[in-house]
Amino acid sequence: MRPTLVLCGPMGSGKSAVGRRAATALGVAIHDTDAMIEERAGRTIAEIFAADGEPAFREIERDVVVEALGTTAGVLALGGGAVLHPDTRRALAGYRADGGVVVFLDVSARQALLRIGTDQRRPMLHGDGESPRQRWNRIAAERRAVYEEVASHVVTTDRGTPAAVARRILALLPDA
Ligand code: S3P
Repeated sequence: MRPTLVLCGPMGSGKSAVGRRAATALGVAIHDTDAMIEERAGRTIAEIFAADGEPAFREIERDVVVEALGTTAGVLALGGGAVLHPDTRRALAGYRADGGVVVFLDVSARQALLRIGTDQRRPMLHGDGESPRQRWNRIAAERRAVYEEVASHVVTTDRGTPAAVARRILALLPDA
């Protein structure tokens, strides 16, 4: 079993919102790795970061994402940093080699930050010395090459409703 479609991209790029619309249109389930991690850990992501730190979170995330790539059907939305782990990148390369579709949802800082708003549930955006905007920009710049490496397609989500973006993505699927 494998996903019909995998979505990656930075925080606020619309992975969950667009993924939900794409899944509904396809008549399949949506799986969100952030929710799967929280379920497995029995804690929120913010709690995992606060208690154990980012490296511990990335290990759980790696396990969840690699497993999900082999065991879930439907649309799989990855947490923004999931692509950082080399094991995850290897698993995504295998999925793509097998004909899988990985879409990088690209977004401007302006739009992403508007969507995220003042949501406090993203620990990566909060830390000493930098504003959430500065952190988002730095993280997005650091990861851009990795998103491009793992993706088979890039779709910009700045314009259009999540449903309209989902339609653009569905047109990329092999049997659309
Ligand atoms: C993270 C993104 C979050 C979540 C965690 C870390 C990141 O997911 O996995 O807070 O490092 O970019 P979303 O991209 O769904 O917000």
